[in-house]
Amino acid sequence: MKKIIIAIDGYSSCGKSTIAKELATALNYHYVDTGAMYRAVTLFLLQNHIDIYHPEMVAMALGDIHISFEINPSTQRQITLLNGENVENEIRINSRVASAVSEVSSLSEVRKFLVKQQQVLGAHKGIVMDGRDIGTVVFPEAELKLFITAEPNIRAQRRLDELKTLGQTTTFEEVLANLKKRDEMDSNRADSPLLKAKDAIEIDNSYLSMDEQFLLIIDLVKKSKGQAQQI
Ligand code: DC
Repeated sequence: MKKIIIAIDGYSSCGKSTIAKELATALNYHYVDTGAMYRAVTLFLLQNHIDIYHPEMVAMALGDIHISFEINPSTQRQITLLNGENVENEIRINSRVASAVSEVSSLSEVRKFLVKQQQVLGAHKGIVMDGRDIGTVVFPEAELKLFITAEPNIRAQRRLDELKTLGQTTTFEEVLANLKKRDEMDSNRADSPLLKAKDAIEIDNSYLSMDEQFLLIIDLVKKSKGQAQQI
C-alpha cells in the first residue's frame, strides 16, 4: 500500500502526540515528535549556559547538538536522545525547558537546523509527524494534513493530568497560564508561526473520546489516497 506523510499541527497539549503515536502504530509508520526536538535543543542550551537571547551564540552551539529517537525495549515507548543520552523525562518535566522553549523555537537558526533534519526523517514517507509547522513548512506537500484544536481549559486539565503522572506538582492556573503564553508565542512569532495550512482538516477534539478521534482520522487516512482532503 502506498505510504504517505501525515502532518499533524495544532496548539500545545491538544493531544497531537497521542493520536500521532496511535496512528503510527496502526499504520506501521514512523512517528516523529518535533516538539521533543525543540525541547531537546532548549535543554542543551540551558545545560550549557548559552544565552538564548543571543541568536549568534545559539547558532554556534547547534553544531554540538545531535538529536535522535529510539524505542525503549522495556516499555516499547519512543524516547528522545540528546547526544546519545536519554532526556525523554527531563524535556517533559523541567519547568525551565517549558518556559524557554517558545523563545528558542522562535529563532530562525534553530528552526532551519531542525526542519532540515525533519525533512530527512520523512524523506521515505510512511511517517506521522506532529508539531506547529509540519503542514506549512516542513512538508507542505504532505498527503494528509490535520490541524488539531481543543478548548484551553480542557487542554490545561489534560496537561495537568500528564504532569501528575510524571510526578510533578503544579496547579491548574499555572498550567493554563503557561499554555496560553505558549499559544501566544507560537502563533505570533515571525518565523513559521503556528498556522492552519489551507488544505488541512481541522479537528476540535474537546468532546471527542480517543476512540472517536482515532476512527475519524483513520477514515481520513483511507480517504486521502495520496491526496490531501479539503473541507
Ligand atoms: O509540542 P510541544 O509542546 O512539545 O512543543 C514544544 C514547543 O516547541 C512549543 O512551544 C512550540 C515549539 N514547536 C515549534 O515551534 N515547532 C514545532 N514543529 C514543534 C514544536
